[in-house]
Amino acid sequence: MRYQPLSASFYSNNRKAFMKQMAPNSLAVFNSNDIYPVSADSTLPFQQHRDLFYLCGVDQEETILLLFPDAVEPKHREVLFVRETNPHIAVWEGPKLSKAAAQKLTGITTVYWVHEFEKVFFELAAQCDCFYFNKNEHYRASVQTETREDRFIAWAKKHYPAHGVGKSNPILQRLRSIKAEEEIAQIQTACTITEKGFRRILEFVQPGVWEYEVEAEYAHTFIANRSKGFAYQPIIASGNNANILHYVENNTQCKDGDLLLMDIAAEYGNYSSDMTRTIPVSGRFTARQKAVYQAVLDVKNKATALLVPGTLWKEFHLEVGKLMTSALLDLGLLDKADVQNQTPETPAYKKYFMHGTSHHMGLDTHDYGLILEPIQPNMVFTVEPGIYIPEEEFGIRLEDDVVVQASGTPKNLMENIPIEAEEIESLMQG
Ligand code: GLY
Ligand code: MN
Ligand code: MN
Repeated sequence: MRYQPLSASFYSNNRKAFMKQMAPNSLAVFNSNDIYPVSADSTLPFQQHRDLFYLCGVDQEETILLLFPDAVEPKHREVLFVRETNPHIAVWEGPKLSKAAAQKLTGITTVYWVHEFEKVFFELAAQCDCFYFNKNEHYRASVQTETREDRFIAWAKKHYPAHGVGKSNPILQRLRSIKAEEEIAQIQTACTITEKGFRRILEFVQPGVWEYEVEAEYAHTFIANRSKGFAYQPIIASGNNANILHYVENNTQCKDGDLLLMDIAAEYGNYSSDMTRTIPVSGRFTARQKAVYQAVLDVKNKATALLVPGTLWKEFHLEVGKLMTSALLDLGLLDKADVQNQTPETPAYKKYFMHGTSHHMGLDTHDYGLILEPIQPNMVFTVEPGIYIPEEEFGIRLEDDVVVQASGTPKNLMENIPIEAEEIESLMQG
C-alpha cells in the first residue's frame, strides 16, 4: 500500500462503538462507493466511502459491511463482503484483497465474496427486526447522483418491506467527529506532506510563474511523499482571483505586486489536511498588504483559542464575527455607521469575510460533526478567516488545522508551516 494503514484494533473499536449505539435486533449495512464513469471506458479514480473505510479500513470497490450485534451466531456479528479476485483480474488490475488479507486488515473473521451477499443477507434479515441504513446527512451535502448505498436501500426496502428502519448517519457523525490518536497521527502526516509542498513553492514562486505551475510543484511533492494527491480541488489564486472564493481554474500568470492565495493540501491514507497560505509573488508584502495580513493572522490566532470543549459552533462564529468587525474597523474597511446599520442577518463584516471560520476536518475535508452539539476534545477543526478586497485587487486567507484539547488552547497540526509575514518574506528571499 502507498500509505501505512491503521491497526485492525482501531477499526474493531469503531465497530464496537457503533454497535453500542444500535437498537436491539438491528442490522446495519454499509456499502462502498461506486467507481464513477466518465465516458467510453474511462472512470474517475476510486475514492472509498469514508464511513465504510472508518469501520473496516477496506479501500476497495464492491465492498459491503454488515454489523449485527444481536446475531444468533457470533460469527454473524460482523460480516464483510469483498470482490472475489481471480487470475484475470490479478493480471489486469493487480491484486485484490484475499479473504485472509481482508481478515488481517479489518479484524473481521467472517469474510464472504460479494456475490454471496443476497444469500447471506436473506438469512440474517430473518433474524432481525430493523435495518440501519446510511444516508448522507452532512450539513453541506448536495448529492445529485444515485450512490451504491441508495441502490441498496431501494433494493432492501423492496425485498424486505416488513422491516423497520434506523439511521446510521447520526451515530457516525458523532463517532467520526472525535478522532483517535492514530487518526490524528494520520492527519499530522498529511499536514507534514503539505508543509513540504509549501516550503518548496516558497523557493519557486516569483513574478512570471503561472498558477498551474505552482499547483504542479505541490502535486509533485505530495505524490513523492506517499499521498494520492490533493485532498480537495486546489485554489491557486493570484491578485483579484483570490476574491473568487471557489476559483479553481489556476490559469493566470502571477505578477509582481500580486498576492498569491493558495488553498491546497495533501491527503494521506484517505485523511485530509486543509491549508491556506497567502504569499507575496515578489517575496515582499507592501505595507498595506502586510497590515491586512497581520489582521487576518490575529483573527486566526484569537479564533483558535476559542475552540475549547463546550463551545457551540454557532456561538464561536458569532465571536469570530466580532473579532473580524473590529479588525475591519481598524483597517478602515468598515466605519462605525456600517456597524450601526448591521442586523444579525446582515453583519457588516460579511462584505469582506463572507464564509465560515471553521469546519470539522478528517476523513472528509469538510468532515462529520453535529454542529448543533458542543465542541469536544479530539475534534479536529480548520481555522480559516479571510479578508477579501476586490477594490484593492487582493484577498488574504490563512488556514490551519487544529485539535481541540481537554484543557487549554487547541494543538495546531500546522504549527511548523511558516505563517508569520516576516518568515515568509525571509524564506522567499533566502
Ligand atoms: N479547502 C476547502 C476549505 O477550506 O474549506
Ligand atoms: Mn481550505
Ligand atoms: Mn477549510
